Order: sequence, then C-alpha cells, then structure tokens
Amino acid sequence: MTDLKAPYGALAYFLDLHPDVGDFKTDVLTGLAQPQKSISPKYFYDECGSKLFDKITALKEYYPTRTEKTLLLSSADEITAAIGARSAIFEYGSGSSEKVEWLVRGLEDPVAYVAMDISKDHLIDSATALADALPVPVAAICADFHAPVTLPQGGFPQPKQWLGYFPGSTIGNMLPETAVQFLDRASQTLGRNAKFLIGVDLEKDKLVLEAAYDDTSGVTAAFNLNLLQRMRRELDAVLTLEDFEHFAFYNQKKCRIEMHLRAMRPTTVAIGEQKFVFLEGETIHTENSHKYSIDRLRDLIEQTPWRLNHVWTDPKNWYAACLLSNN
Ligand code: AVJ
Repeated sequence: MTDLKAPYGALAYFLDLHPDVGDFKTDVLTGLAQPQKSISPKYFYDECGSKLFDKITALKEYYPTRTEKTLLLSSADEITAAIGARSAIFEYGSGSSEKVEWLVRGLEDPVAYVAMDISKDHLIDSATALADALPVPVAAICADFHAPVTLPQGGFPQPKQWLGYFPGSTIGNMLPETAVQFLDRASQTLGRNAKFLIGVDLEKDKLVLEAAYDDTSGVTAAFNLNLLQRMRRELDAVLTLEDFEHFAFYNQKKCRIEMHLRAMRPTTVAIGEQKFVFLEGETIHTENSHKYSIDRLRDLIEQTPWRLNHVWTDPKNWYAACLLSNN
C-alpha cells in the first residue's frame, strides 16, 4: 500500500500515502447547492492561481509573507536555540529553500528535512530542489495534513526530536475547531518531546487587514475570480464572469477575513445539467483567514496536547511565530 523507496533524485525517501485530493467537480456541485454557496480555498491553487498567489506575496498591501520572513530571520538565533540539537524538521506543505534554509542552517546538528504536501508533482519538484540546496538528508511524504500521518523510521539517523514546521499562517484558513483537530493529529505524528513552530497572523487594524485582501492592483481579485475561470476550464461551467466581483471583508465577530465571489446582478452558473441561481448580492464564500490575538491563540493551544513555549512577534505585533512543545 505504501511504498518506501528512493526513486526521485537525491531524496532519502519518498512516501506516497495516496491522499484524497478531492474532486473539484463533486465539491463545486455540493458547495453551490448549499444555502450559503461555498467552494474550498484549496481549489485556488491551480497553475494560474499559484502564480497569482506568488504575486500576492509581493504586494505592498500583503504584509504577512514579508513580516513573517523578517520575524523568523531576526529571531532565528533564539528560535533555533529553543528547539535544540539533533532535530528532524517536518514541514506541513512543502516549502521552498528560502523558507527552511535559515532553520536548517541555524539548528545544532539537524538530522533531516522532511517535506509533506498533498500535490505529488509540486512535492517532488520542491523536495528535489531542496535536496540540492540543503546540507541535510531530504525526504518527502505525499499526504493530506487533514488525515493522520505516521513518520517512517529510517532513511536518516534517528532524531532526538521532531520539529513540526508550519509557516505562512495557513493554519488561519482552518476554523478554530479544525485547527484544534489538526494540532491533535500533529501531536501524534510528531511524537514525544516534539516541538512545533507555527506562523500565525495576528489581529490588527481592520483597514490594514482589508487592504491586504483587496489590493489596489487587483491581484487578489484576480486570484479569487480565477476560481470561476477554473470552473469554466475544467468543468465546462457556463457563467458570466462579468456578473461577479471580488468581495473581501473583516468579520469582526469571527475574527477573520472572508473572501467571497459576489453576484453584482441576478445570474446563473450552469454545470452540466445543474443550474445554480444567484440573486443580486448573493455570494460564493471562498476563503476564511483567521486572525488571532495571543490570548485566543493560547486558548486554542490549551485545547490540544501542546504547550506554548514561546511567542516571537514583530515590532508592530502583526505576526507571531509560536513554538509549541509536546509532552
Ligand atoms: C496562504 C492561506 C495564508 O490567508 O493570507 C492570500 C491566502 N488569500 N490572499 C492568507 C490568501 C488571499 C493566504 N494563506
């Protein structure tokens, strides 16, 4: 069932857990049939959407990527000292060398870097590139982080502890209760004495938040609207793109940015035999991006087996790097 071998370039191993990648058509049909129409943000990232996301990370309004990068680099000595020697890194969502090199180079005697991702092609490409760039053995596991994962033994020396690494504030996409379940599973995967380094976007001025998700150059709008184009390309959906607009706002009560595709006038979307009617102003909910306060973060972590060891924040308190430990 699971094949543990090293067929891909210089990887220490490649483990394919055959994740359920989801079916775009089934999920869209189900999502559009709900009273509040919705489509999962995981469908943003086709080839076009991934390119648009890269553009988002470079926007002046989109502070998270560069704030996290500056924070991690400027706190690197403290973070790596708190993690300890002979760790193996397990990254949720396969990274680029830029995102992990500081960590590998800062840690004392790191044992390995293991990348996990749901997209096999992307994983093989990025892990192979990392194997060339990093001074440690690199392995890869194709799996879904919403499903249980057991780390294989072997491929490299036994680490003293595992370090989970989940940068990018991707945890913000999850509902708080889903984040708790995710952290529970991670605790089991990473095992005793493990540490977990997580990037979390913090609550801040509503105007700053809303600008980050509705930039003046319209890149985030294009990223959101690409979902409709993807439905046309892949599902032969019949729809009028011009009838929809990007809509992002901060939901104060739920402490999250919500992104929607909003019908500017009554319209329909047809997929095969199925027709979905939109009233003027009706939306497809496409993403949540939760923003935490340190207190709410603490509450969330208290519902899991993890302990919050240390929080590093940038001078503006816009972003947090949290180090958790498993007992
Ligand atoms: C990749 C989930 C962290 O929520 O900020 C960026 C995705 N959506 N702009 C985020 C995103 C719109 C991003 N995450």
